[in-house]
Amino acid sequence: PGERLILGVESSCDETGLALVALPEAGAPVLLAHALHSQIDMHQAYGGVVPELASRDHIRRVVPLARQVLSEAGRRIDEIDVVAFTRGPGLAGALLVGAGMACALGVAIDRPLLGVHHLEGHLLSPFLSADPPEFPFVALLVSGGHTQLMRVDGVGRYTLLGETVDDAAGEAFDKSAKLMGLPYPGGPHLARLAEEGRADAFELPRPMLHSGNHDFSFAGLKTAVRTHLVRQGWLDRPDALADPANHAALADLAASAQTAIVEVLLKKSLGALKATGLKRLVVAGGVGANRQLRSQLDQACGRRGVRVHYPELHLCTDNGAMIALAAAMRLQTGQAVPTREPSFDV
Ligand code: KG4
Ligand code: ZN
Repeated sequence: PGERLILGVESSCDETGLALVALPEAGAPVLLAHALHSQIDMHQAYGGVVPELASRDHIRRVVPLARQVLSEAGRRIDEIDVVAFTRGPGLAGALLVGAGMACALGVAIDRPLLGVHHLEGHLLSPFLSADPPEFPFVALLVSGGHTQLMRVDGVGRYTLLGETVDDAAGEAFDKSAKLMGLPYPGGPHLARLAEEGRADAFELPRPMLHSGNHDFSFAGLKTAVRTHLVRQGWLDRPDALADPANHAALADLAASAQTAIVEVLLKKSLGALKATGLKRLVVAGGVGANRQLRSQLDQACGRRGVRVHYPELHLCTDNGAMIALAAAMRLQTGQAVPTREPSFDV
């Protein structure tokens, strides 16, 4: 009874995220503090996440970040009631750092642990925004590793409507961007370049747009981008890709690729809303930060009387706040019992 304090630890990929959430006896969880260290700069030279380097960097960051959130929230370590951590999915070595740190802390302060599913963190992250959604809703989960449409009836009541059969939407952004010589992670870079280009410049595939179900496929798009670059003679030629003379054509390609991805995400989301008859859409995960996706969803949903909810921009990509929040919401609804020996799936 009384307020419970939850520490959240996220380390599934290339960001170390720590957060403190207070769960009052009645009412919504409150984010007290969160801190993040992104490894993007470190992995950039390799064009993608290097798992071994990621794990080692999490070890370096996790304790200082934990101290930071405690100090920002003005709380002592022994005031923590539950230690929540990302139990998966993610890179094994990276996950182990967060899980190991959480276990050690749990033992040290004699408090139980709660493993949180990474995607549930993303899914519930809009509840930290100023305008939180109400259940039930359709969720479009678009990250670097996942693309799913879900029907969400409450905390822990998730029905998968459809998902990608190959690449995730974020992967489609990242792989296309990499082919075009843009830095890692390519999504935001491709989006920026796309703003200078013409979206109808190139005809790119929209796989499974009319598949009649809620599944996605993005592998063909990456192949189409590749084919186009081969035809231009630009594939694996950094000099050509960086040549200012080719900038406009690359921007056109970026705009065409982004539009293809966004159109598929938009149409499939509308399909899921129609099939479920629901009037609320939650968009979560890194690709949810994409401006074209947001504006097209807002327009199309506005016309249909559908409310769209997003996490705050800085909570779209991986962070500890969503992990602490998901744990808090599970505790609040009595759907999870923290334990001394946590479950862990890699
Ligand atoms: O949710 P997230 O941080 O990590 C995973 O759990 O995968 O998502 C990262 C993904 C990357 O693929 C990144 O390129 C993409 O989100 N992303 C974007 C944008 N910002 C991040 N994609 C398109 N437009 C953006 N503005
Ligand atoms: Zn994520």
